[in-house]
Amino acid sequence: MPYRALCRAYGSAMNYTEFVPAEALLGRRNPMWRRLDFKKGQEMPMVFQIFGNDAQKILRAAQRIEALGPDIIDINMGCSTRKVSGRGAGVGMMLQPDLVAETFNLLTKHLSVPVTGKIRLGWDDAQRNYLAIARIMEENGAALIALHGRTKEQKYNFGADWDAIAALKQAVNVPVVGNGDVRTPADIEAMKAHTGCDAVMVGRAAVGNPWIFSRQERARLTFSEIAVTIRLHLQEMVDYYGNPHGLILFRKHLRRYFSGYSAKPFLQKLLVTEDLAVFEDLLQQTEVFLADAETLPMVS
Ligand SMILES: Cc1cc2nc3c(=O)[nH]c(=O)nc-3n(C[C@H](O)[C@H](O)[C@H](O)COP(=O)(O)O)c2cc1C
Repeated sequence: MPYRALCRAYGSAMNYTEFVPAEALLGRRNPMWRRLDFKKGQEMPMVFQIFGNDAQKILRAAQRIEALGPDIIDINMGCSTRKVSGRGAGVGMMLQPDLVAETFNLLTKHLSVPVTGKIRLGWDDAQRNYLAIARIMEENGAALIALHGRTKEQKYNFGADWDAIAALKQAVNVPVVGNGDVRTPADIEAMKAHTGCDAVMVGRAAVGNPWIFSRQERARLTFSEIAVTIRLHLQEMVDYYGNPHGLILFRKHLRRYFSGYSAKPFLQKLLVTEDLAVFEDLLQQTEVFLADAETLPMVS
């Protein structure tokens, strides 16, 4: 949540939660519910994303979380991990067109927020059924379709197929969100031009790079500019997760903020401290070191 909210402040148009299994939302409250925390008023439009393999359970889960105030509820039909897809959820839903129809039919009838879905191209190259699934979603009331231009078998390998996103845009009347391999502001424009999609979703390239949402080239920033964001982000993490847990969780982001900079000795120390004052001192030393060396060896 802290990083999502930061991305929103930097210009992201819409935020999704991490996906939550429908089953986890049916019983008593458990730690999974925390994935649905969001900054009211700051992250709008806010999308809650859930997944499952049973339309009735997905509906009951969606009805429970609708009360928390999301703007949209989204069904994940893109997750390729065996644990999820192997039991017919995530991209496994794409092998069950009837389940897709039933899920969207039920949810759009019984929820008052718009219902959307995220899909892949299909299970594998022999079963690229994204157009058929998208039409089923649209016929059953889906308000928007996001497409990650890879099959389940491709996982995150090979280039995403942007031609498929263009074909989807031609095939449906609801807004289409394109996704896959957008790494720079130029890629955002390129995907829009190539596909005609209504919005662009950025995944991996957003880590350590909220500037992509304000269409700023990360490679052009000085380390001092990056340090301003590091402080903001860390403060949000500590406010939300507490001290030092927030600082410890921040380490994975810190590695990414440092990518492209030759400041390993500083990074190594920053990655082990549990003390915020020590962290700040080390960060200042890093800024001085990188400014003195006049090194901005960004490798993008
Ligand atoms: C570690 C990891 C976790 C992800 N979790 C989700 C998720 O919860 N929901 C979702 O729709 N996509 C999830 N994705 C997929 C991304 O949203 C996106 O579709 C994919 O990474 C391709 O886009 P990109 O090339 O911009 O990263 C995840 C991807 C990764 C690498």
